Amino acid sequence: MSFSAQVPAQPSMRQLKRILPILVGNPALHARFINTLARMEYVGVRKMLKARHVDRLDLEGLQHIVEEASHALRLKRAAKKIGGEREKDGIATFSSAHTLGGPEAERYLQEVDHACEELVRFYGFPEAERREANYLLSSLIIEIRAQAFYPLYEQNLQAANAPFSVRAILKDEVKHLQEMEHQSQQIFGSTWRTLVEDALRVEAKFFEDWVAQLSQQIKVPELSAQG
Ligand SMILES: [Fe+2]
Ligand SMILES: [Fe+2]
Repeated sequence: MSFSAQVPAQPSMRQLKRILPILVGNPALHARFINTLARMEYVGVRKMLKARHVDRLDLEGLQHIVEEASHALRLKRAAKKIGGEREKDGIATFSSAHTLGGPEAERYLQEVDHACEELVRFYGFPEAERREANYLLSSLIIEIRAQAFYPLYEQNLQAANAPFSVRAILKDEVKHLQEMEHQSQQIFGSTWRTLVEDALRVEAKFFEDWVAQLSQQIKVPELSAQG
């Protein structure tokens, strides 16, 4: 998919390339960072539970919810493994103190969700269809990001011989992306490409903000525009 191919070259992804080795190399920070990822997966589940109407929810939709919940659980367990006995109490919940930029990560998801909601309205979707349309668009956009993020994170985990892997999560996300792509093309028809491009443009900005906040928290200067 051409959209996924554009994302790794973004400045935010280059900045992530710089900060991930620092995070992975520091167990206390890393445990909180994994817990942040778990929180994001959990927020994704909460959004789906709220957004999906029973009239639309099929086996595939139910499986999507369960798989995202299992990602949250896997990551939470990985956070505990990395943090060990010392960090056990420091990552117990998804609170600000127990995560690394947890509220900012959640804000990123909320911003993407709201922007997609606005776009769906702007593109003239009838009100009765908007909630489902927003679910498909925002999930597609976030799956495209996941497809750039998880392989980069996996490379870092392997380079550091980390005792866990996100390969199984990535495999699910690849499948979700295909499903969201297919279903959103059906619902958006001829407006699909421009709508997705518009949504990706705003998402890139929100993601960049999150990476910038993460960089500040671990005190890594941001890349210059030329960087
Ligand atoms: Fe996920
Ligand atoms: Fe997913």
